[in-house]
Amino acid sequence: MTLEVVRTVADLRARVKAWRLEDLSVGLVPTMGGLHEGHLSLVRLALEKTDRAVVTIFVNPKQFGAGEDFDVYPRDLETDAQLLGGLGAHLLFAPSVAEVYAEDHAACVSVPGVGDILEGACRPGFFAGVATVVAKLLLQTLPDIAFFGEKDYQQLLVIRRMVKDLNIPVDIDSGPTLRCADGLALSSRNAYLSAEESAIAPVLHEVLAGIAENPSPGTAQGVDRLLKAGFSSVDYLEVRDAETLEPWTGAPRPARVLAAAWLGETRLIDNVAVKKAVSRQRSAS
Ligand code: PAJ
Repeated sequence: MTLEVVRTVADLRARVKAWRLEDLSVGLVPTMGGLHEGHLSLVRLALEKTDRAVVTIFVNPKQFGAGEDFDVYPRDLETDAQLLGGLGAHLLFAPSVAEVYAEDHAACVSVPGVGDILEGACRPGFFAGVATVVAKLLLQTLPDIAFFGEKDYQQLLVIRRMVKDLNIPVDIDSGPTLRCADGLALSSRNAYLSAEESAIAPVLHEVLAGIAENPSPGTAQGVDRLLKAGFSSVDYLEVRDAETLEPWTGAPRPARVLAAAWLGETRLIDNVAVKKAVSRQRSAS
C-alpha cells in the first residue's frame, strides 16, 4: 500500500471515516517534519498498535515566538514522504497554515500549571501553541491512539493533562527518546549545529545521565560542566517530580532530570528518568 497524502481536513476525515466503516483502528503521529529516527520510531509504534497510521507534518506558527526559528525550520516534504512510504505509514496529512488557522481563528487551549514552568517559562505562549494545534489535530483525526515522544517530556505531560481535562476521546501513548551513539537526542534542530558544536552537544546527555544516577535537588555543578564544555548558556537544569514537574525534594517518588541549554544559536532540550530514586532514597535514610 502506498502512502496517501492529503492537504485538507475534509480529505483527512473522509479517509478516516472510510477506515472506520471497515472497523480499522487508527493511530496518529503529529510532527513538524524534518523526520528522523525518533519520529519514525513513533510511526513504527503506531503501525504496531493500530491498523492504520496517520502522520501529520505541520510547522505550527503558533508555537514559535518572535525571533525563534519558524522561518528556517527544516522543511522537506518530499524526503519525509519517502521515509514514511518506506515504513508503510498509510496517510500523511500536510495542511497549509491557512487550512489549520482560518484568518478569523481565535480559540486557544492553555494548560496552566504544568504548561507554565520550565519550557513554558522560557518560551511564553509555546505550550498554548502546542496544545491548540494538538487539540485541533486530535479532533480533526479522532484516532484511537496518538503517539508522542518522551524527548519532549513536558510536552507529553501537557498533552496528557489537556486530553484528560477536555475529555478528548483519544488514548495518549509515548515512546522513548532515540539517541545518536554519542548520547545526543535526535532532533530536527540538530541540523543547525556546526561540526564543532556537534562534538560538544553530547555533553548535555552526559550531564543529565550523571545527575540521574546520583540525583540531588541542586544542579550547579552540572550547569558548570555544560558551560565549561562550551554551551553558551543554560535555561534550566532541574530534577523534578516525574508526574507534576514540581521541584523534586528528594522524596521517594519518580523523578526526571530536564534541561534546556544553548549551543551558539541552537537551543537543545533533553531529559532523563532518575533510576531507582525510590530505593536509593530508602537505603540512604
Ligand atoms: P516534533 O519536534 O516534530 O516532534 C514530533 C514528535 O516526535 C514529538 O512527539 C516528539 O516528542 C517526538 N520526538 C522528537 N525527537 C524524538 C526522539 N529523539 N526520540 C523519540 N521521539 C522524538 O513535538 C512537536 O514536533 C510539536 O510540538 C507537535 C507535537 C507536532 C505540535 O506541533
